[in-house]
Amino acid sequence: ARTPNPKFIPDLEINLQAAPKTVQILAGEPTQVWSYAATLVKGDPTSLTAIPDSYLGPIIRVQTGQRVRVNFQNNLPQGQTSIVHWHGLILPEDMDGHPRFAIDPGQTYVYEFEVINQAGMNWFHPHPDMLTGQQAYAGLAGLFIVTDPEETALNLPSGAYEVPIVLQDRTLDANNQLLYLGSKIGTPRNSGMGGMGGMSQGNSSQSGNGMGDMSSMMGFLGEQLFVNGKPNFTLSAATRVYRLRILNGSNSRIYKLAWSNGSPLTVIGTDGSLLTQPVQRKYVMLAPGERVDVWADFSKLKVGTELALNSLVFSGAENVGGSSMGGMSSNNAPELGAAMTLFNVKIARTETETLKLPSKLAALPLLRPADATNAAQPRPVELSLQGMKWVMNGQPFEMTTATPQETVKLNSIEQWEIINKLNPGAMMDAKGMAHPIHFHGVKFQVISRQVLPELAAGWQTVKDGYVDEGFKDTVMVMPGERVKLLMKFEKYSGLFTYHCHTLEHEDAGMMRNYRIQG
Ligand code: C2O
Ligand code: CU
Repeated sequence: ARTPNPKFIPDLEINLQAAPKTVQILAGEPTQVWSYAATLVKGDPTSLTAIPDSYLGPIIRVQTGQRVRVNFQNNLPQGQTSIVHWHGLILPEDMDGHPRFAIDPGQTYVYEFEVINQAGMNWFHPHPDMLTGQQAYAGLAGLFIVTDPEETALNLPSGAYEVPIVLQDRTLDANNQLLYLGSKIGTPRNSGMGGMGGMSQGNSSQSGNGMGDMSSMMGFLGEQLFVNGKPNFTLSAATRVYRLRILNGSNSRIYKLAWSNGSPLTVIGTDGSLLTQPVQRKYVMLAPGERVDVWADFSKLKVGTELALNSLVFSGAENVGGSSMGGMSSNNAPELGAAMTLFNVKIARTETETLKLPSKLAALPLLRPADATNAAQPRPVELSLQGMKWVMNGQPFEMTTATPQETVKLNSIEQWEIINKLNPGAMMDAKGMAHPIHFHGVKFQVISRQVLPELAAGWQTVKDGYVDEGFKDTVMVMPGERVKLLMKFEKYSGLFTYHCHTLEHEDAGMMRNYRIQG
């Protein structure tokens, strides 16, 4: 628990409560979810809005430089410790939501911080040790949008033309209840074959339950694609330009975004910032935790036109479990990399558009690879499988010690290399999976990617969809791929974490602590 500092004068103050809630998702039985309920204590009412018609959210919108207080209250069921991680924001260690700060149900944690990020869409979600997957799955996810004067001057689509899109895959049972790894949300998970999670205390991975280990290894894949908490999302659009702010909020599913009419995607921003200039991609890869900011120009389309944003086929895993395994929640879930429709767009009315795609977006303080102190020898992070657990540098996460496994100097610039190793002898032929690696406390540039020749075929199905031009906080690393990152640890010292954002991998210990030494 953390109490307010009376000397901190916020521009924006919000009460944020995590609690169970009953909502109507489908016709018939209402669905039990867990949701963030937010109320404005102080500040501009436009700083706190809802994702329309959704239990996800809220959307917190601030200007760079604003001071924010969030009074977070955990009202989840017994056993569900929680803490909010502001994914993408650069914050002091005790504001960032490291699992060591998780609070019990009934307790309050007061966040007080200044927003130093430049314009971009960040998000927030629970981050308790071993419980992140089920809490995020149950509905705890909100958006934290930062704007700044540079962005405002670009005159990008706003209001009804700026649309948040949270992509998640979910499985509902016959009574419309969310199923996670074989159990209903909020009910203790049974062990054995039926309850593949065994997770009422979030401990499947340590239980020695074979199926729990298997689901941790494979990651959860849901049967249905939800946008903003519901299936069958349709954007009823005018003949205008839209700014689609897309978050992959799924636990494990990776998407290969493409327009159904074959037009390229115009990308203006990624995880935490705008790009320096727009780029076009035939398709865009979006792994859990990543965001993409899309300029969607419908102004030349005719009323009545229908199109879809699809996910195209790709290869995200090499022989992991074989094709029949495809996600542990249900045999009906599409496999990782299967084709899916994400949402539809219907052009419903004519309006006049005057906005033009800016040729220059943000001035980014991009670094050069040679600026790193260790350019000759990047710091390695090896991803591999140990038994049935994915680990980083050969060790599982140890919450109890919370000691740093890496130490870097404040203000230093380093190269890190994520190496997604093959596991030739692995059980179930688990040769390798794509892992989205997320760093707290720092933003980075992706400076190079290489793949093992024997895995080039799978890599070819995704490589043109990476958008590595700007600053990122989460990077997808394919099986057999090595990705070099360039980062400057420039704001706050303290103990932070980095981990795989496949939430079942994270919960099972694919996470490390690092210290930024002041
Ligand atoms: Cu979005 Cu440490 O996570
Ligand atoms: Cu992973």
